[in-house]
Amino acid sequence: MQNFIFQNPTRLYFGQGQLENLKTELQQYGDNILLVYGGGSIKRNGLYDQVIDILKAENKNIFEVSGVEPNPRVTTARKGIEICKTENIDFILAVGGGSTIDCTKAIAAGAKSDDDIWDIVTKKATATSALPFGTILTLAATGSEMNSGSVITNWETNEKHGWGSPYTFPTFSILDPAFTKSVPENQTIYGMVDIMSHALEHYFHHEENTLLQDRMVEGILQTMVETAPKMVADLENEELRATVLYNGTMALNGMVNMGYQGDWATHNLEHAVSAVHDIPHGGGLAILFPNWMEYVIDENVDRFKQFAVRVFDVDPNGKSDKEVGLEGIKKLREFWNSIGAPSRLSDYDITEDSIEEMADKTVIARPEFGNFKKLNRDDSIAIYKASL
Ligand code: NZQ
Ligand code: ZN
Repeated sequence: MQNFIFQNPTRLYFGQGQLENLKTELQQYGDNILLVYGGGSIKRNGLYDQVIDILKAENKNIFEVSGVEPNPRVTTARKGIEICKTENIDFILAVGGGSTIDCTKAIAAGAKSDDDIWDIVTKKATATSALPFGTILTLAATGSEMNSGSVITNWETNEKHGWGSPYTFPTFSILDPAFTKSVPENQTIYGMVDIMSHALEHYFHHEENTLLQDRMVEGILQTMVETAPKMVADLENEELRATVLYNGTMALNGMVNMGYQGDWATHNLEHAVSAVHDIPHGGGLAILFPNWMEYVIDENVDRFKQFAVRVFDVDPNGKSDKEVGLEGIKKLREFWNSIGAPSRLSDYDITEDSIEEMADKTVIARPEFGNFKKLNRDDSIAIYKASL
């Protein structure tokens, strides 16, 4: 275990009826509020009206950025930044999934900077401050509600990059499982794959003495294996929604990965796919993760064996360690397929023709990526080919 410093400043309001705390939170800030949301799901499920009623009751001046895209675009963030600067916005409220929250983080940082937000996303410039913002989460997936990360896409250059800063933690996040009940089946599945993928990104590392961390990450994976099939079969079930929601936050708020660095190559590979093809993040991960695992298993066969035995109850008797590890990977692939996640790039009509372009994107920020095994452009090509 390495030395670490841990701080997470986001105040979490979790559970039924927690929206009532919005009022008190808003009272701490000035009157000009920018409300950020996506393509309309919050209007259809009634959450928009509830939030507007609270804002109006607090006499706030409401400005809006709507239509934040899944895989949020830098152009949308720029629109929000412009409003913040011209209207002297005091506080930003994100109501939606990870895309809406990530876009809000870009708006918050861009509003306090003279640099273009794309330069901050691509790390040519650094965020030195941000407007305060809170979130009301409507989709369990990214963990963005309790971390400082943001992923932004630029359609002019077909690039999608993650960035973050100490200033881009939400000041508060309200998580009521009831707000996630309207998430359709496919987005529910993608979200659950994303949550498990965050746990998997943590899990594959070479650090020693991470006994508790391993058990916590395995706990997330096992809970998702137990819950995901029930969730798909009963989308309106609020208890299952709560379990998935809590898992999503815990998988990427820094609590289970103190003292070591996870891998994150598969996220880089996926971001390159969605930068070129605009596919859902969780869908891409379901395709790529098992193929990445098979590609890197020889780096640390013991770890894959531990994963197989502890998460998927693979019986190790009479098998080599590698056979056990490979069986675990097979079980993961089968599990994701069984809940309805895609398994091949061709499920999104992605063919060999775009592999070179996607591979270019994986090394645009740096020539090598991933911590469990350093990968280069050739490795990206091999993993994409195995995923076709
Ligand atoms: O846009 P609306 O109309 O709101 O509809 C959304 C969208 O179409 C819909 N949705 C959300 N809540 C709903 C709902 N529909 C019905 N009822 C509700 N309650 O779901 C669709 C997908 O939403 P989106 O926000 O795009 O999904 P998600 O939360 O999975 O976010 C994906 C983005 O987050 C990035 C991904 O790369 C992707 O761009 N990530 C961000 C991370 C972070 N900040 O830490 C880490 C992740 O690994 C990930 O990379
Ligand atoms: Zn993810």
